[in-house]
Amino acid sequence: MAPYLAPHNLRETKVAYSHDLIEPGNWKLTMENNRECYHCGANHPELTVPLFAYGFGFAPEELDESEREHAAEYACMLNDNHRDWEAAGLPSREVDRLDDMVTGFRTERLPLSGAGESHTIDTRRACNKLMGNLDNAKLGGLHFWTQPNSWHHFMGDHAVVFSVLPIDAEHSLLRTKWLVHKDAVEGVDYDLENLIGVWMATNQQDSDLVGYCQEGARMTGYEQGPYSPHTEMLVEKFVNWYVGRMLSHLAETRAVA
Ligand SMILES: [Fe+2]
Repeated sequence: MAPYLAPHNLRETKVAYSHDLIEPGNWKLTMENNRECYHCGANHPELTVPLFAYGFGFAPEELDESEREHAAEYACMLNDNHRDWEAAGLPSREVDRLDDMVTGFRTERLPLSGAGESHTIDTRRACNKLMGNLDNAKLGGLHFWTQPNSWHHFMGDHAVVFSVLPIDAEHSLLRTKWLVHKDAVEGVDYDLENLIGVWMATNQQDSDLVGYCQEGARMTGYEQGPYSPHTEMLVEKFVNWYVGRMLSHLAETRAVA
């Protein structure tokens, strides 16, 4: 990940805000919610202003004609942006090693809607002092997911980093931190409410969804179903990775015994 993250120079950042949220669901359900964006369109009115849900998979048979056109335009924009960003020294293309490495991860720099600068409600930078030595804020969002319990978004002006820690069988702690350039001053370079607004709202919406899943899984009528190959392939990889780690641990335990 070093070449992808280097332009954002994380050593020269500070934590602008940190927030802990107790989600009413277990760690597995919390992670599974994070690894699909099928729910984004209907549940994240703030996040889907800057974020194109197409970047995280979609079911082609569910799209109408105009949505299909939109998805094709998005694919062209993605290609063009990757070419331009990489030419400017910003690694951007997808790397997905979510289920074939012990330290499973995924990354890609994705274009954002509107001004294309940040995860904000007006899609523009929240912090006027950009990260590292960047001189262009229109860099979309670089996501970095790691197994088993984190995801991160790096924009030109700030980063949002997340980790999930299990508390008990029905509760998890989601810890979110917003990072800005170390010299950025609150109230001068950035407005805190604007910086954190989109993800504070999104986290609460996800927490509510995780709670519904936990309630559903607890019911006696619950039946498991297959994952969608179009919209839940990254959930499948999360589960694959976890099963692989358990099998490996089992083999090691047996070898010792
Ligand atoms: Fe979500």
